[in-house]
Amino acid sequence: MRVDFSPPYIDQSIIDEVVDTMKSGWITTGNKVKLLETEIQTFTDSKSVLCVNSWTSGAIMILKWLGLKPKDEVIIPAYTYAATALAVFHAGGTPVMVDVSDDYNISLDAIHKAITPKTKAIIPVDVAGWPCDYKEIMQIVNDKEIKSLFTPTSEIQAKLGRILVLIDAAHSFGGKYDGKNIGVGADLTIFSLHAVKNITTAEGGAICLNMPLPFDNNNLYDEFRSMSMNCQSKDAYTKSMAGSWKYDIVGFGMKINMPDLNAAIGLAQIKIIADLLIKRTEISNYYNKAFSKFDWAILPVNKTLLKESSYHVYCLRIKEITEIQRDKII
Ligand SMILES: Cc1ncc(COP(=O)(O)O)c(C=O)c1O
Repeated sequence: MRVDFSPPYIDQSIIDEVVDTMKSGWITTGNKVKLLETEIQTFTDSKSVLCVNSWTSGAIMILKWLGLKPKDEVIIPAYTYAATALAVFHAGGTPVMVDVSDDYNISLDAIHKAITPKTKAIIPVDVAGWPCDYKEIMQIVNDKEIKSLFTPTSEIQAKLGRILVLIDAAHSFGGKYDGKNIGVGADLTIFSLHAVKNITTAEGGAICLNMPLPFDNNNLYDEFRSMSMNCQSKDAYTKSMAGSWKYDIVGFGMKINMPDLNAAIGLAQIKIIADLLIKRTEISNYYNKAFSKFDWAILPVNKTLLKESSYHVYCLRIKEITEIQRDKII
């Protein structure tokens, strides 16, 4: 049997939404992006959501905003995709890789050991869709002693007064933590909407803003939206209105906005996310049942009282296997 590597889910409703966008005469950032942001905001219960053109570009923008300096450190897990580290480098900081626990997610003990006055952010990764220990990580950064170590090197860092927690939720759209959908467990959470992800916009990312006071998440949305469009004082849609051509470049931004054409795919997909997640859960349960017969199989934990996976990737471990055997199986 041939099993394709995660083809995107495309049905007629998705094709219709894309065609509708093409016929509308507006294909770059506009109404459909706004609608997708609102859908993700409602789904996650976030304070605000901004869509961009990838997880990677969104993370670079956020870390640039945080004002990383070359010696500033960002703690990341050693087990992740390259983008987690690359985002830190591109933003001008230094990634510090620490070990993971048995569930492949960042180890709390390793975080503790890695924190120094240079630490400005932590990027826990929800590997395969399994949520990290959000509560414990937030407790670490809010700990009095750890806060007293914190040495800001930018105005934003000083305003926060502690280490920022940015969740790499590239895999975990639809996962659950403490009865809520992933998205609100930390200061910022970024989903990837790349073609193989649980919902997709072909390429894309969604930044969930849940920054604590004194930050205002609606103001931050406006700031990040402008940053994602070269810091133009007006977006293309507003500029297109009669008599509204004049604009300024008010900062040092990036060009990473999501086009409506892409948002259309995600907009149609998020309407059926419940069905897509049921299907993924069924497949995962099917694998669990099939593999549980074999004593060489170590099955992934996908559900506890506190957490539930987004069932993005089924991580099967096989006892005493060589690298060559692993590659053959894959
Ligand atoms: C853990 C992790 N982080 C970040 C990314 C980057 O996502 P994007 O391709 O949207 O930039 C990926 C992509 O697969 C990923 O697996």
